[in-house]
Amino acid sequence: MRIDIVTLFPEVALAPLSDSIIQRARAAGLVEVQAHQLRDWSVDRHKRVDDTLCGGGQGMLLKPEPLFAAVEALKQADTLVVLMTPQGRPFRQAVAQELSKASHLLVLCGHYEGVDHRVIESLVDVELSIGDYVLTNGAIAAAVVCDAVIRLLPGALGDERSHVEESFSDPNLLEAPSYTRPIEFRGMKVPDVLTSGHHANIQAWKKEMALERTRVNRPDLLD
Ligand code: ADE
Repeated sequence: MRIDIVTLFPEVALAPLSDSIIQRARAAGLVEVQAHQLRDWSVDRHKRVDDTLCGGGQGMLLKPEPLFAAVEALKQADTLVVLMTPQGRPFRQAVAQELSKASHLLVLCGHYEGVDHRVIESLVDVELSIGDYVLTNGAIAAAVVCDAVIRLLPGALGDERSHVEESFSDPNLLEAPSYTRPIEFRGMKVPDVLTSGHHANIQAWKKEMALERTRVNRPDLLD
């Protein structure tokens, strides 16, 4: 897989992708990631990439010319163009799974009040939001999406099973609580069932606790 990120803050997008599991996936050649400076495609002699809103309104918008030039330079026949924006479709594990099948992702990062809508109409295949809050810039959201996608690439996680049992593999259920040693810590004991060795009881307990945790933290998933 290849991922190109276009942003005013390439270092912000790359920093979380330059360590640990994702860095190892990159080093192993599972994915090639590059972040590009949007300003390099500015047509303005002052290297400006933003302008005020037509029709009035607060803030600045990314102009179309640099984004069109960037996409025209980086897009190939198999490219999926993604725009990070709080106005996008919710980014969920199922979306990460879909994106992990792509051979080339071109991720555009919004900034200020967003991007000129002609960019979305003409260039973007999917607009994605990582949650119902507004970040200072889309590079942070791009890093989140790339992390979630790259770890799904075959071979990225040491243990191939590790993303099968986790929360959101069943999109309607969170994971059960988990424990490690010591069996007793400051008077708090690991639930007996987990040290019983009784596989069926452990599975039943996990199912019940997963439901309970979902009821408390994410009742919306059970609706
Ligand atoms: N840019 C700013 N906020 C964002 C969000 N929540 N998701 C994606 N991109 C964003």
